[in-house]
Amino acid sequence: MPSPPKNTDNNKIISLHGCPIHFTDEKHFGRQISAFIGETEKNFILTDVNTAKLCLPLVRSQFPGFDESRVITMEAGEGEKNMSSLHHIWNFLLQHRAGRDSCLVNLGGGMITDLGGFAASTYKRGIRFVHIPTSLMGMADAAIGGKTGINIGGIKNQAGTFALPQAVIVMPGFLKTLLWHELLSGFAEIFKAALALDHSFWNKIKELSLSETKRAAIISLLENSIIRRSIEIKAEVVASDFRDQGKRQCLNFGHSIGHALELLEQGTAKEIPHGYAVAAGMLCEAFISNLRCGLPAKQLSDIEKCISINFPKTHFEEKDIEGIISLIRHDKKNVNDKVRMSLLKAAGTCVPGVECPEALIRKGLSSYLKKA
Ligand code: GLY
Repeated sequence: MPSPPKNTDNNKIISLHGCPIHFTDEKHFGRQISAFIGETEKNFILTDVNTAKLCLPLVRSQFPGFDESRVITMEAGEGEKNMSSLHHIWNFLLQHRAGRDSCLVNLGGGMITDLGGFAASTYKRGIRFVHIPTSLMGMADAAIGGKTGINIGGIKNQAGTFALPQAVIVMPGFLKTLLWHELLSGFAEIFKAALALDHSFWNKIKELSLSETKRAAIISLLENSIIRRSIEIKAEVVASDFRDQGKRQCLNFGHSIGHALELLEQGTAKEIPHGYAVAAGMLCEAFISNLRCGLPAKQLSDIEKCISINFPKTHFEEKDIEGIISLIRHDKKNVNDKVRMSLLKAAGTCVPGVECPEALIRKGLSSYLKKA
């Protein structure tokens, strides 16, 4: 196994249970990859059609090891995170004689790192893998923390593993390849991490006004501080509860309702980005938090202001509410068929596993609909 790169700059590395999360730039990118995976012919890279076009050329220019025969390219989108994609990757690795000494590099957003992490952590009972997240959501959330998985029957992450990559290489330069709605979608997870776990970070970012006209300034803020702080928050909570039995569930604030809203339109022309659904979920769950956990009214109103200024409204109607509630019943946090949510006692303080009566969820969804 190749030796990891020398830690010449402690500031650039966050470690999570021995998994280094490296920040790098275009100049040092190739060196990082080669130090982690070595130059053998047994390495493979997983991309989707977008990252194959926008990000793979940079990887290849600095790390020539990935010729055509080592690239696995999937279609793009959450709908591809399924059993048949998983089979395709396993078969590809098998046909190309990937062995226990192989490494799979997952170059992409959350779909690719979840799917590739699952494929690698189960192929021949587990081979090495490295994540190179290319989306904001991937850098700040999905690629961090060792969750892998696929959706089953359209329900998110119903099969998967807890498995840490050999390393995560964060190259914020890839943010330039993103469409505006992809950047904005990633911000939802950043607001979530702050709201669930870090009051002072929330105070720093709650006034942000995310407009496309300020794109360059926003990317520079992300590169200089915001991504790093989001990763630190996540790494800290994951280190204390890797298998998601308690405190880690705080990272699901906004997701019980958010996932259900996302599923409602999945596969239709009205499909919404994950982050927009999470933003709507956070609004509803903040409203419920006020009633159930005492989230102060002033803090609720700050959350409402931040989310409604920055994210487009998620469309659903009163008649959809029962369907949304029945989707929420599938949530993995539920116990004995009772819906449990991660709710806020205050901005920056989340309580996981709060039993939440369906009547309250109805109220939360209705209040969202009533807001302009
Ligand atoms: N994205 C939630 C978690 O990693 O636990």
